[in-house]
Amino acid sequence: MRREHRVIGISGSPRSNGNTETLVNEILAGANEAGASTSLVVLHDLDIRPCKGCFACSKVGKCIQDDDMNELAATMQQSLGWVLGTPIYWWGPSAQFKAFLDRWVSISRAIFRNRKVVLAIPMGGGSERYARHTVAMFEDVFSYLNMDHLATVLAPGSDDRSAVSSSSSILAKARQVGKELAEKL
Ligand SMILES: Cc1cc2nc3c(=O)[nH]c(=O)nc-3n(C[C@H](O)[C@H](O)[C@H](O)COP(=O)(O)O)c2cc1C
Repeated sequence: MRREHRVIGISGSPRSNGNTETLVNEILAGANEAGASTSLVVLHDLDIRPCKGCFACSKVGKCIQDDDMNELAATMQQSLGWVLGTPIYWWGPSAQFKAFLDRWVSISRAIFRNRKVVLAIPMGGGSERYARHTVAMFEDVFSYLNMDHLATVLAPGSDDRSAVSSSSSILAKARQVGKELAEKL
């Protein structure tokens, strides 16, 4: 694959250098090894306001809110692969990630079609079942938007900030998933 094929990682955790960022970064490292150019966006560092539910976007073709979502959507459009990361908060995604996801309603459907996507989800609970509602939500969203969901990397038992960075098996899986993502672009 050619270097100009871009992969964007988007982390929805407010905890810097925590498990979500580590997981997303490791997937990006695998994609980079396989020849993709990569970048990481941390939603907590951006101004992405919640959807107002006004549906003005369906009339004027864009959101009436002028914030960092505009630039992020443009970068997403230029990136063939997306690595979406969120910690599990109360069986769902973080507030930062949900605000970002809700704003997809204002983005052209063409951006999503056939987009290759990988999920990265750490959780404090010791079983992958803690992520089941979140994974199911994403699967329905991806199917609705005709996206190409390639893989999901889950990291249970990850309350400690360094839990993912100390797990060689999860890191190995993340790197492999990143390589496979880049090879499919
Ligand atoms: C507000 C809040 C709610 C949480 N809810 C859950 C939960 O429902 N299930 C779970 O397994 N872990 C839960 N956790 C633990 C986080 O998913 C876990 O610590 C995760 O690894 C954090 O990722 P980070 O290091 O990237 O911030 C919660 C943590 C917080 C702060």
